[in-house]
Amino acid sequence: MDTQALKDSWHLVARSGDQVPLYFYSALFLANPETRDLFPVSMARQRDRLVSALGHVVSNVDRVDELVPFLQQLGRDHRKFAVVAEHYPAVGRALLATLEHFLADRWTPALAQDWAQAYGLVAQVMADAADDAAKTSPPWWEGEIISHETRALGIAVIRARLNYQYPYRPGQSASLSYSMRPRIWRFYSFANAPRQDNTVDFHVRMVDGGVLSAALVMGARRGDVLRVGAPVGDKLTISADTPGDLLLVAGGTGLAPLRALVEQVMYEGPSRRVDLVVGARNSRELYDLEALSKMAAEHPWLNVVPAVSHDPFYRGTRGNAVDVALQAWRGQQVFVCGSEEMVQGTVGRLLDAGVPPEQVHFDEFTSDRGRES
Ligand SMILES: Cc1cc2nc3c(=O)[nH]c(=O)nc-3n(C[C@H](O)[C@H](O)[C@H](O)COP(=O)(O)OP(=O)(O)OC[C@H]3O[C@@H](n4cnc5c(N)ncnc54)[C@H](O)[C@@H]3O)c2cc1C
Ligand code: HEM
Repeated sequence: MDTQALKDSWHLVARSGDQVPLYFYSALFLANPETRDLFPVSMARQRDRLVSALGHVVSNVDRVDELVPFLQQLGRDHRKFAVVAEHYPAVGRALLATLEHFLADRWTPALAQDWAQAYGLVAQVMADAADDAAKTSPPWWEGEIISHETRALGIAVIRARLNYQYPYRPGQSASLSYSMRPRIWRFYSFANAPRQDNTVDFHVRMVDGGVLSAALVMGARRGDVLRVGAPVGDKLTISADTPGDLLLVAGGTGLAPLRALVEQVMYEGPSRRVDLVVGARNSRELYDLEALSKMAAEHPWLNVVPAVSHDPFYRGTRGNAVDVALQAWRGQQVFVCGSEEMVQGTVGRLLDAGVPPEQVHFDEFTSDRGRES
C-alpha cells in the first residue's frame, strides 16, 4: 500500500474545505437514507466531525499498530450513535465516492484500491471492538446530575451518578449527550479518579455559540440525566510503569483530567511527587483553586501553583503556565492539557527547552478539545 499517496491525496482533497463533508454526507444519505437518523438533526451550523477524522485516520494507516487502541475505543464509543457493522461499508463507499469526486483525474485504480484497503483495515478494528464490547457493556451509561455548581463565569462543575459500574482510568474522557440537545455528543474529561459510589465530575466551560457546552453550563439542573459514552483516550493516563515524578500543566478546564491523575496518586499512595501548574487568564478563572489548595495542604507530595497570565494586579505567580512549568521542571514526566493552541504552544516550548519528547504527554488526535487557557 502506498501510504504516502494516501496522505498526499487526502491533503489535496482537504483543501476543498466544507465542500468535502457536504459531498460526503449527500453521497451517504442518498445511497443509505437509514444512516441519516444517526446524525444531529441540524448539521448546518456544526463543524464536521466524521469526515476530517476519516481522512486523517485512514491516511495514517501506516501507523495502524500504534492506532489500534485508539480505534478500538472509537469503535466501542461509536455504539452510542447506534452505529452497527453494516454501516461501515456504507461509509467506506461514501468516502471513496468523495475522494473520486475531488481528485478527478488523479483518482487512479491503484489509489482507489489503497484507500479501500486502508479503510477496510481501520473499519475492521473498530467494528470488531464494538462487537466485543456489546457482550459486556451498554452502548452508553446514564448519569443523573446530583450537583451542578457554577464556579466562574461560564464554567460549571457537574457531578453525576452513573447507573452501572463504569470502568475508566484517570486521564480519560467520555462523550456526553444531554436530552435538551438530542444526538449531540461532545467529549468531556473525568475530573476525578473512579469512586466507590459511581459518581463522576466534569468541568465544563461554555464556548461562545457552543451547542452542548452552553446547555450543560446554563440549562442543566440537578435531577437531569446525561448519557455517557465509553471511556476514551490513553495519552494522559499513568500506570505503575510510568516512571518518577509528575509535572502537570493545565490550561482552563484542561485541569479536569490532570486533577484525576492527582487523585490517582493520592489513592495509590504517594509514591511520587506531583507539581500541578494551573494556568488561567485571571484569578476568577481559577475555579477549582480552593479544593486544590486543600489537597496540597493535606499532601506534602503535591505542589499546586496557579499561574495567572493576564492580570497585572494578581498577587501570586504571574505568567503563562508553560513559563512557570519550565521553572519547575527537574526531569519529571510532563502532562499537558488545555486548548489546542495552549497544548501546541506548551509542547513546543517544552521540547525547545530540552525536555525529551518521550517525557511529554498530550492528546494528539483530539484537536477539538475546546478550551481556552
Ligand atoms: C478528548 C476531549 C476532552 C474534552 N474535555 C473537555 C472538558 O473536560 N471540559 C470542557 O469544557 N471541554 C472539553 N472538551 C471540549 C468539548 O468536547 C467541546 O468541544 C466543547 O464543550 C464545545 O462544544 P459545543 O457543543 O458547546 O460547541 P460546538 O457547537 O461544537 O461549537 C460551537 C462553535 O464554537 C467553535 N468552538 C468549539 N470549541 C471552541 C473553543 N474552545 N474556542 C473557540 N471556539 C470553539 C466551533 O468551531 C463552533 O464554531 C474536550 C474535547 C475533547 C476532544
Ligand atoms: C473508519 C471508520 C470511522 C472512523 C475513523 C470514524 C471516526 C469518527 C470520529 C473521530 C468522530 C468524532 C468523534 C465523536 O464525535 O465521537 C466521528 C463521529 C461520528 N461518526 Fe464516525 N467514524 C467511522 C465510521 C463511522 C460509521 C460507519 C458511522 C455510521 C454511519 C459513523 C457515524 C458517526 C457519527 C454519527 C458521528 C457524529 C457526527 C457528528 O456529531 O457530527 N462513523 N467518527
